[in-house]
Amino acid sequence: MAMTESFYVTTPIYYVNGAPHLGHAYTTIAADTSARYHRMRGTPTKFVTGTDEHGQKIEESATAQETTPKKLADEISETFRSAWKALGIKHDDFIRTTEPRHKKVVADIWNRLQDSGDIYLGSYDGWYCVGCEAFYQDADLAEGKKCPTHEKEVTWVSEPSYFFRMSKYQDALIKHFEDNKDFVQPKGYYNEILSFIKSGLRDLSISRTTFSWGIPVPNDDKHVIYVWIDALTNYISALGGPEGKDFELFWKNSYHIIGKDILRFHAVYWPCMLLSAGLPLPKSIVTHGWWTVGRKKLSKSIPTTRVDPEIIAKDLGNDPLRYYLLREIPLGPDGDFDYDSLFGRYQAELANDLGNLLNRSLSMFNKYFSDVPQVSADAELKAQCQNASNEAAAHYEAFSFSKGLEATWALIRNINKYIDENKPWMLAKSDAPEDKEKLAAVMMNALEAIAWSARLTTPVLPESTAKIFSQMPIADGLANQWPVSEDFGKQVLSVGAPTPVFPRIEKDDKDALIAKWQAHSAPPAEPTNQISFDDFSKVEMRTGTIEAAEKIEKAKKLLKLSVNVGEAKPRQIVAGIAEAFAPEALIGKQVIVVTNLKPAKIRGVESQGMILAVGDKKILDLATAAVSCPPGSQVR
Ligand code: MSP
Repeated sequence: MAMTESFYVTTPIYYVNGAPHLGHAYTTIAADTSARYHRMRGTPTKFVTGTDEHGQKIEESATAQETTPKKLADEISETFRSAWKALGIKHDDFIRTTEPRHKKVVADIWNRLQDSGDIYLGSYDGWYCVGCEAFYQDADLAEGKKCPTHEKEVTWVSEPSYFFRMSKYQDALIKHFEDNKDFVQPKGYYNEILSFIKSGLRDLSISRTTFSWGIPVPNDDKHVIYVWIDALTNYISALGGPEGKDFELFWKNSYHIIGKDILRFHAVYWPCMLLSAGLPLPKSIVTHGWWTVGRKKLSKSIPTTRVDPEIIAKDLGNDPLRYYLLREIPLGPDGDFDYDSLFGRYQAELANDLGNLLNRSLSMFNKYFSDVPQVSADAELKAQCQNASNEAAAHYEAFSFSKGLEATWALIRNINKYIDENKPWMLAKSDAPEDKEKLAAVMMNALEAIAWSARLTTPVLPESTAKIFSQMPIADGLANQWPVSEDFGKQVLSVGAPTPVFPRIEKDDKDALIAKWQAHSAPPAEPTNQISFDDFSKVEMRTGTIEAAEKIEKAKKLLKLSVNVGEAKPRQIVAGIAEAFAPEALIGKQVIVVTNLKPAKIRGVESQGMILAVGDKKILDLATAAVSCPPGSQVR
């Protein structure tokens, strides 16, 4: 991608049926990183995220939670907003599909499709997955009529529906793919979706009548607009619609970062809609795979797969999490989240390669110098810096964050090597004037290269580079600019005392953090001691009056009682209360008796019920009613 006059990047807008998880955080961090990179290049940049709030799925979630869809949407949309704030995401806009500015543009797009003669009324009979909010053909379904993504049974829908003539755009879309080889990236997804289009496009059902939580179809409010038509439009309603000023500036350089499960909607439905609406297509659909945990898809309901990005970031810092997610896998294939590799990369690449390089360089500098000396640039080191910039830039522009970081870390390792080979500690021991000069040159070149490489990491590690530049201030404005050749030698203004930016984490602390995160992610344990109301109501309890009490031979703790519970004959009850009460003290006492307990023999004596006592280990009293009741009164 050549330098552009603008850059527009979006995340999918997230459903408001559950809190953000690691998968959502990944897309958002990737978009944030590319936006930060383009801002550093001085390109007018817009980064939009938001929430997808309409549709059957949200209506059903709200009903299940005994709330209204709007209340649920308000609440969950806010959890996304606050998660992004906590994770240091710098989006320029947060769009919600329940906002009037969005609804207006959706109606406008609908009218454009209609004006093109591409909407007709029919009826839809077929399978629907509420989880995906998608219609399925028999052939698409997994065994047992299950949705291939959610592995849940799909439902049969039969209702009047408006249709969009998507089939009409098949050839135009194929041509667009052929003319724009980066329309979907990486390549594997491009090929997959192109062959899907070539296999034939069907018209698309674009309205529903069996629920109401959505944007009404213009002039036919018995129908609500299919949630994907509504949701996809967010990408242009956030620009003020097709007539908006931002649309003119940004749309031509628009990139949608999405997960592979929603590729068809973005690479087929959306471009067909835009073709019908007479609008240009986005520049590219950038597709990533799934994060798994223990190779299992992340799920809110399976404890081992619940990884909370916020708690990890809170304990370890936002940047290490960003670094791990973007460095561990290239954008495209699935990746397995693993706490050991997270800490492994933290220790080796952040704490050692970068953190330690900074620490030792600042310490040495402070030992040998009090002012920043003027030196000339080491041509080789400068060239390495420039190459790393070029490489990292090309990779960030291609959304290959992992490779961008790899190129940057190759430079960081070279700076470490440069110091090791030039041995400033040896030069410092020498009194020879040429060694003094060389010491200044080595130290300053190393610090310049560190400042340079820190600037290359800024899109991924914005908080850490700010810390680096607070210890080693650089010339005004440069911290937020992508480095260019003339900067080398003019960056570092002064050198302060080092404070570790990535403190080492000892094994015990690491184990404790992992244990804490895992415990946090486990769902609250279901209490195992609960009984249902039905179970409880099986217990029959009545008041009774003790008429006689005597000790049982050879049983220190037991008394044999005769209790009047309002029946023809008193009950014989054996109770373990001999250590708390003398038999004579019990006569006439009102107690509560479980009367439907199966009779049992205790020490050879039949017991026809149980009296209720109070106290933990030691019995303090017998349960009773505060007023005197006729024997046999029900206790409920
Ligand atoms: N609302 C739709 C998107 C509409 S965009 C016009 C939606 N929302 S979602 O909340 O279900 O998912 C949003 C994104 O999160 C998708 O890109 C999806 O791929 C991504 N992820 C969900 N789980 C994921 C992982 N386990 N790993 C990586 N990303 C995953 O779909």
